[in-house]
Amino acid sequence: MDKFVIEGPSILKGTIEAGGSKNCALPVLFATLLSPHKHHVAAVPRLNDMDSTMKMLVHMGCIVDQKHSRTFGSDWIIDASKLSGADAPYDLVRKMRASNLCLGPLLARNGIAKVSLPGGCAIGARPMDLHLMAIEKLGAEVTQSAGFIEAKIPAGKTRLTGGRIIFPLVTVGATENAVMAATLAKGTTIIENAAREPEIVDLCRALISMGARISGYGTSIIEIEGVDNLGPMNFRIPPDRIETATYLIGAHLTSGDVTISGAKAEDLGNVLDYLTESGAKISCTDNSIRCISSGKIHPVNVTTAPFPGFATDIQAQWMTLMSYAEGDSTIEETIFENRFMHVPELVRMGANLEVLGNKVKIKGKPKCFDGAPVMATDLRASASLVLAAVAARGESTIRRIYHLDRGYENMETKLRSLGAKVERAMD
Ligand code: EPU
Repeated sequence: MDKFVIEGPSILKGTIEAGGSKNCALPVLFATLLSPHKHHVAAVPRLNDMDSTMKMLVHMGCIVDQKHSRTFGSDWIIDASKLSGADAPYDLVRKMRASNLCLGPLLARNGIAKVSLPGGCAIGARPMDLHLMAIEKLGAEVTQSAGFIEAKIPAGKTRLTGGRIIFPLVTVGATENAVMAATLAKGTTIIENAAREPEIVDLCRALISMGARISGYGTSIIEIEGVDNLGPMNFRIPPDRIETATYLIGAHLTSGDVTISGAKAEDLGNVLDYLTESGAKISCTDNSIRCISSGKIHPVNVTTAPFPGFATDIQAQWMTLMSYAEGDSTIEETIFENRFMHVPELVRMGANLEVLGNKVKIKGKPKCFDGAPVMATDLRASASLVLAAVAARGESTIRRIYHLDRGYENMETKLRSLGAKVERAMD
């Protein structure tokens, strides 16, 4: 198992390129299962989750060719002409929950999909009930046994049927599965209370490149007019908004000055406003975002919310920033029920944090923490610990960084190019 050894404190300064978005690439790559063609997907980030996705696609009969032409990211050609399987086995799903995004495409194309239930997750229960409700509204018959979900188009029918799906809460994954399944359904589907995240917009654009008819994406009502078949996808994965936010927070945390080239401000939701309120100067061009710290971090309370609200995927990194603020603040987590596992690790490094249900009270201390050995528990928790270690005095060791490798491409290279002292070592 790899670990990071970080010697701090460092001031992050310089320019790095935004990597491709993990949470956009996942549904887009699974969407290629919808049609029997050769698909081109450019700028896929090189992450462990993409390796898991490739294994899933290959398991289902796709031929996947990757070209590593740039420093970061790769271009994928996915030949989905012939599918040999319609099942997502437990061994693949347990490594990556987002494997459940094959459910909608496999069902719509094959008429059947068998997907292992992913089980629990470090950050919350994350059930799949709304994914199933959505495909049932499109006419699928769903059964569950022996840890698997089996979804089928009923006997006598060859396609799903368009329908009205009303989500009781905003869910990114179930919206994605519903949109993908509906593209090949007979008739029109309306999704109400749909997620509005940039990843939904990008998935819809990728599907439109295949010939899908979708409108309203980016709003809470999406309309999909089903088509008889879809063509090849040609799509470029956009920059990762969570990775971008992580490095911008790092810049402010370390009194630094960081530019993320390729980043799109409109995808960041309100995090740029919060950074400004906390004392950073943010300037944006069409394809870059720069964060110059004022050297003082003002306390700012945040509550996580679906897009365009404050993203739950930035909550942990924000906690590190607020731990260094000149005053007290709170963070309220409203999306996942167990997303504070970074708290005890940040406390080991000197943060003053108190968990009260789904809130954390933060007593800000604008002075260097001490480096410490800590343990990563999930992807974004790992990022919060890395930032804390870069800002802390002395050596920190962060174990279990396989979590980090799921979602941050070459983090040590990027951090080193900004002036941090980070080494990857074997544990
Ligand atoms: N939910 C249900 N039933 C369902 C589906 C979701 O109750 O059938 C609940 C969840 O338990 C959660 C809430 O709805 O409480 C929102 O979950 P959502 O479905 O939106 O999350 P997701 O699709 O599983 C994606 C991202 C997460 C990100 C969330 C929220 C991907 C692959 N994952 O997960 O990203 O936190 O949306 O924005 O897109 C990460 O990148 O670190 C990460 C966890």
